[in-house]
Amino acid sequence: MIGLGTMGRNLVLNIADHGFSVCGYDRDVAQQQRLTGEGTGKPVLAVASMQQLVDSLEKPAKIMLLVPAGKIVDAVLAELVPLLQKSDIVIDGGNSHFTDTDKRYTQLQQSGVHFMGMGVSGGEEGARLGPSMMPGSNEQSFNAVKNILESIAAKTEDGPCVTFIGNGAAGHYTKMVHNGIEYAMMQLISEVYGFLKSVGGLSNAALQQTFADWNNTGLRGFLIEITADVFLKKDDKSDSFIIDMILDKAKQKGTGMWTSQSAMDLNIPIPVIDAAVSMRYLSAMKEDRVATAAKYYPVENIVTINKEHLVNDCKNALQFAFILAYAQGLHLLSAASKAYSYDVNIAEVVRIWKGGCIIRSSLLNEIRKAYLEDSTLTNIIQSTVFIDVLKNSRTAVANICSISMQHSMPATAFAASLNYFDAYCTQRLPANLIQAQRDLFGAHTYERTDATGSFHTDWK
Ligand code: 6PG
Repeated sequence: MIGLGTMGRNLVLNIADHGFSVCGYDRDVAQQQRLTGEGTGKPVLAVASMQQLVDSLEKPAKIMLLVPAGKIVDAVLAELVPLLQKSDIVIDGGNSHFTDTDKRYTQLQQSGVHFMGMGVSGGEEGARLGPSMMPGSNEQSFNAVKNILESIAAKTEDGPCVTFIGNGAAGHYTKMVHNGIEYAMMQLISEVYGFLKSVGGLSNAALQQTFADWNNTGLRGFLIEITADVFLKKDDKSDSFIIDMILDKAKQKGTGMWTSQSAMDLNIPIPVIDAAVSMRYLSAMKEDRVATAAKYYPVENIVTINKEHLVNDCKNALQFAFILAYAQGLHLLSAASKAYSYDVNIAEVVRIWKGGCIIRSSLLNEIRKAYLEDSTLTNIIQSTVFIDVLKNSRTAVANICSISMQHSMPATAFAASLNYFDAYCTQRLPANLIQAQRDLFGAHTYERTDATGSFHTDWK
C-alpha cells in the first residue's frame, strides 16, 4: 500500500485481518509509525522507501495506491513504475478522474505493468471493516487480486461487494457515478431536513426519531441511518447540538461535478445530480446569500401545514427522488458503458453497491430486480418494478415542491426530480416550438410528425 492516510492504513489492517501479509509505505514518517503501531500483532510491515516496498513483495507484485487524485498519482507512478517488472499490478484506489485512468492504463500497458483503476467507497469505516470496490481494467488483472479484494469487501446476502466492473477506466467511471448519486441523495436529505425543521418545526430529537423510523421502512440505507445519528450529537464547545453550530457551506472535492460534466458530454439528463452540484455552489456563496437575503426577506409564510402530513410527504418524496437519483446515475453509466466500450453489467454494479458504500440502501434490491428482469433497461423508471411506487409517490413530491415555493425554501433537487419525471412521461413536449425557432433563424431544419426526413420552411 502506498499512501498511509486513514483510508490506506485502514485498508492495510483490513487486508491483514484476512490473512494476507501487507507492506505499507508513505513519504510521511509519522504515517509509517502510525501503521507500525496500529498493525502490532498483525502481518503488517511499514517501510521507509518505495524500493523497500517493492523488494518486500512476492512476484508478481500487487501494489495499491491510496493517494490524493491528480498530479500526486502521476508523481507516485513515475517513481514506482521503474522499480517494477512486467506482470506486476498497480491499483489506483483513489477518486481519480476516469480520463486520467484511461491515460495511465494505456501508458502502463506499454511497459507490461498492469494498471487498474478501482473506486473504493465506504469512508474510513468501510476501508477498515469492508468497503464496496469497483475495479476496472481487464479480467486478467482483476483475477490476480480477486481473492484479496473479495476477502476484504463488505458482504451482503448476494455476495462480496466487489466485482470486475469493466474495461479500462470503467471502475473509476462507476465510482464517479456513485458519487454523483451520493451528492443527489445528500442534497435531497438536506432539503427534507430544511422543511421538517423550518416548516414543520421539528426539534433535533424529533428529527432523529423521524429519520430513525424511516430507516425501518423502504427508505432504509446508510445515509438515512447516519442522518438520524447526526441530530443527537451535542457540541463540546457550546450548549447546542453540533448540527446547529455547523456553517451552511457545503464543500466538495469535485466528483459530483465530474458526473454532471460527463453527462453533458454524453447528452444524458441527470438534473437531480446537477441540482445537487449547483446547490453545493450556492451554499458556498454564503456571504452573497446573506447580503441578498437582506434585500428580499423576510417574506410572510402564507400557508399553514399539517405536521403529520408533512412528515409523510417528505418520506414518500424522498423515496421517489432517491429512485430518480439512482435512475439518472445508472442511465448515465449504461450510456457511458456503450460510448466507451466498458461493457459494464449494471445489475452487478447495483449488487456491489448494496453493502459497504455510501449510497447503499434497500432500494437497490428493487433496482437490481429491475435490471435482472431486463438487462437492456435504459432507465429504471420504465421498469414494472417501479411504476406503482413512482405513480403513488408523485403527489408527495408535488406537495413538497408546492410548500417549498410558498415558504420560499429551495427544493431544487426535489423539483428537478419531479420535472424530470414529468418530462420523461410526457408524450409531446413543447420542443416543437424550439425546432420552429431554430429553423426560422438559422435554417436548422426540423422533423415532422407525419413524415420522416428533415424539412425546412421559408418562414418569411
Ligand atoms: C465514498 C465517498 C468518498 C468521497 C466523499 C467526499 O464513496 O466513500 O464518495 O469517496 O470522497 O464522500 O466527497 P466530497 O468531498 O466531494 O463531498
